[in-house]
Amino acid sequence: MHKRLFLHATALAICGLAATNAIAQGDTFKIGLILPMTGQQASTGRQIEAAAKLYMAQNGDTVAGKKVELIVKDDTSVPDVTKRLAQELIVNNKVNVLAGFGITPSALATAPLATQSKTPMVVMAAATSSITEASPYVVRTSFTLPQASVALADWVPKNGIKKVVTLVSDYGPGIDAEKYFKERLVFNGGLVVEALRVPLRSPDFAPFLQKVRDIKPDALFVFVPSGAGAAVMKQFLERGMDKAGIKLIGTGDLTDDDQLNDMGDGALGVVTSHHYSAAHPSPLNQKFVDAFKKANPGLRPNFMAIGGYDGMRMIYEALKTSKGQGGGDGLLAAMKGQIFESPRGPMFIDAQTRDVVQNIYLRKVEKKDGQLYNIEFDVIKDVKDPGKAK
Ligand code: PHB
Repeated sequence: MHKRLFLHATALAICGLAATNAIAQGDTFKIGLILPMTGQQASTGRQIEAAAKLYMAQNGDTVAGKKVELIVKDDTSVPDVTKRLAQELIVNNKVNVLAGFGITPSALATAPLATQSKTPMVVMAAATSSITEASPYVVRTSFTLPQASVALADWVPKNGIKKVVTLVSDYGPGIDAEKYFKERLVFNGGLVVEALRVPLRSPDFAPFLQKVRDIKPDALFVFVPSGAGAAVMKQFLERGMDKAGIKLIGTGDLTDDDQLNDMGDGALGVVTSHHYSAAHPSPLNQKFVDAFKKANPGLRPNFMAIGGYDGMRMIYEALKTSKGQGGGDGLLAAMKGQIFESPRGPMFIDAQTRDVVQNIYLRKVEKKDGQLYNIEFDVIKDVKDPGKAK
């Protein structure tokens, strides 16, 4: 090609590109979804990505005249990486909203960026109470550990359990679970005889479980993050702790629907408290579970998936009401106070705290259609995060 002609063509192409970008910027609504897609928390990323894509497939990718674009990034659950990716998504991709956040340290590392850039940050997984206080732009669609733990501490003493050992992952959500479970249990006349903490990274549960076996409490209360429950269950059973008369209880992270069916019959009878079970008996949940399984053969949705699914719904509805006016602040305002029926049950985003108010269910692992499920047997309605009252 003649050199002058070539330059001309290139200039035209660049102009064209700039023009397309300008149009795209105004007409596109970008969601930066940061998740652990690899590493120890990979199941969380897999579940939330699948749920977000399902929501978009069911509800279309045009909202309020804008094309919704989902940009998924893998932070490998390393907080510095989460923060760097958030920065890039804000500055380079100009995302309208940040979402995801598989673990508490990732959410906390990103919160200041949400504040500086006035970008709503939808926490779909992480569950330490204080996360919503780290930035006025954080809105949560998952749950909090105090929410789940207090409900179980009310059930325990009414069911013949007096002496409990707690075993938690040694970071934000574990410390919340330990504190709120203990406070409430003691208030109810129960006793925590030992509080054990295991490291978050590559935990070895063996020495801790041996200690529990020696103490021989009525029950062992466990919080470990989604993905780690199967290892605890296996080692608990291998040590014959159930046969020694120690009941295994915990927040629903322990009997995670992502892993539960592979845990074996030894898991039968384990009682947990949580906001979501794939077996929640509502028509809406049945529809959700069926659609999720159809789109993701071999995968059952867990509580991470529901945080992602409802998070997408909250973003879509906020975009519809704000019509994209008022930028991040307009979007944030339209997220506050949302109330809707989720596959988990009724759900409300408290406008004051930007945290989720929801039912907490007591569940027992049982067999249904030949598979292990968390079967709900009691419900505490409209639970606010107890961590916010302090
Ligand atoms: C968290 O890091 O906040 C977290 C992760 C996984 C869970 C619960 C909480 O299952």
